[in-house]
Amino acid sequence: MASALNCWIICSAMLLLQSGGLFSEKLRTLKVSDWWGKAGFYQIYPRSFKDSNGDGVGDLNGITEKLPYLKSIGVKAFWLSPIYKSPMADFGYDISDFRDIQPEYGTMTDFDRMVTRAKALGLKIILDFVPNHSSDEHEWFLKSENRTAGYEDYYVWHDGIPGNNPLQNDPPNNWVENFRGSAWRWSAKRKQYYLHQFHYKQPDLNYRNEKVVNEMKDVLRFWLGKGVDGFRVDAVPWLFEVADFRNEPVSNLTSNPLSPEYLVHIYTQDLPETVDMVYQWREVMDDYKTKNGGDTRLLMTEAWSNLSVVANYFQDSNKKQGSHMPFNFQLILRLNQMSKAADFKTVIDSWLDIVPGGHTPNWVLGNHDRRRVASRMGGEHMVDLMAMVELTMPGVSVTYQGEELGMTDANLSWEQTKDPAACQTSEAEYTKYTRDPSRTPFHWGNSSLAGFTNGTKTWLPVAANYQTVNVQAEQTASKSHLKVFQELMKLRDSSDFYENQYGTVVLGTNVLAIVRVDCKGVYVTLLNIANATETINAEEAITRLNITKTYEKSRVLVASVSSKRSIGDTLQLHEVVLQPYEGLVLRSGATLLFARVLYILATITIQRLFS
Ligand code: GLC
Repeated sequence: MASALNCWIICSAMLLLQSGGLFSEKLRTLKVSDWWGKAGFYQIYPRSFKDSNGDGVGDLNGITEKLPYLKSIGVKAFWLSPIYKSPMADFGYDISDFRDIQPEYGTMTDFDRMVTRAKALGLKIILDFVPNHSSDEHEWFLKSENRTAGYEDYYVWHDGIPGNNPLQNDPPNNWVENFRGSAWRWSAKRKQYYLHQFHYKQPDLNYRNEKVVNEMKDVLRFWLGKGVDGFRVDAVPWLFEVADFRNEPVSNLTSNPLSPEYLVHIYTQDLPETVDMVYQWREVMDDYKTKNGGDTRLLMTEAWSNLSVVANYFQDSNKKQGSHMPFNFQLILRLNQMSKAADFKTVIDSWLDIVPGGHTPNWVLGNHDRRRVASRMGGEHMVDLMAMVELTMPGVSVTYQGEELGMTDANLSWEQTKDPAACQTSEAEYTKYTRDPSRTPFHWGNSSLAGFTNGTKTWLPVAANYQTVNVQAEQTASKSHLKVFQELMKLRDSSDFYENQYGTVVLGTNVLAIVRVDCKGVYVTLLNIANATETINAEEAITRLNITKTYEKSRVLVASVSSKRSIGDTLQLHEVVLQPYEGLVLRSGATLLFARVLYILATITIQRLFS
């Protein structure tokens, strides 16, 4: 009772101070109400998560078997890379039936069982929605190529322009596909080119055709009807291209006209019509909820675009709503092993600056298309620190499978390489393009093939370090990345962690502080990103955010593997010695003396107001 009273008093005093304009703009506020606002999301790459039938390929029953693991690490929702029927030219992102399950992943009955089990565990399920393209083996494409009535314009077809070859025109323009080379492929059958922004086996659907728009909305409704809680929308920027097929300007970033970097993609990406399509899908989500009840059905969108463009995916200038969660890829795109504390702050703040009021920030640390965190950031020593950024900044966290263990990129030879983005290059340069190193099988244990399968082979090799970096080993070790991750997730769950204000402060070249303040105290995350001991005054982080309270000594809530401290240790904020690459999450309560002073101040103010 007494502490509730103290809390009320301090909160009221904070409001008074704020309204007096004494708080710095550096403190931001977040209030979360919906189920997903502070949830930890987890990305599963189904092919590599858990194989239940010994064929070396992960599957739905494997996922179902491991759902308790997700629960145990504090995950609230998971998103699945595509599980639909596919010839696997781009490992599921080339879909030949948007409403059916890839046989090597299981059956619709397996899917239903997974949904039932997830719901029983209180886990939400997000599916990958791949709207930009289908497989060239999709029935729609086959019909379109044959000019079957009603399907002629399901894809983007063009005659091309006359060139030297009397039998076949040249491609319509200079557009380049994402995996290199012309974005146009000649169909000998239809005697026209079709557009493919990705692999030639991924023809672009024609969103200027209302029938296609409606078909794809029906696909969303189909899966919502099967009980999924939302979608991660794939490759959003590419939905529309300019209708007159103009050449794109050259970027001067590379001299290779086959490379996607060769062009500035102003006529093929992020067109206004594309952004509007996201708003339309949002309506589908919201309508579904209105008609069927239940929790918010979520839209998460993939766009590696400029931040100013990403902001539009949240909402338009009239607050028409779009994606709940345009993915924040800034931590992936702009931080690396050379980054200093100031870079971390810039990257974090630049994202926060574009999140419109009333919307929720999100933090994506990795995915199946990029290098793993440990490899990107220069080593395993950065794993806990990056997790601390991801999990102690307010908002949603999105963790790619295996990052909680500190899995690293695997070394794969040219012969072992399967990713089309790499296979379309050459042995000399495939390592620059391959996405396979972050897609290798998940490490469940140290038995052969990392406990991923009980068969004798795996679709991609298991990474060499599986004997030490795996769930089993990290669960039994006294300290591990997995344990740090779990502690951080537990902290996110605690009720007061989200009703607060927050800010970031750079304490010298190598130390970043993330501060979160509520009426009972302050959380301070300290990250030493250097390979050297750093002594800092963490109180400075509090005062520089213009927080005028004083705090008792701090208690360690979470400590990185590199730390010599243990949970529950206490320390004084004004002098903290951080070990190389040490990360700490600390909690200090507001001092009671201060509470009393504020009580007196609040009483006087109230008396004046009412006298
Ligand atoms: C997205 C996916 C990627 C895929 C591409 C084409 O970027 O994440 O894996 O290759 O879209 O669908």
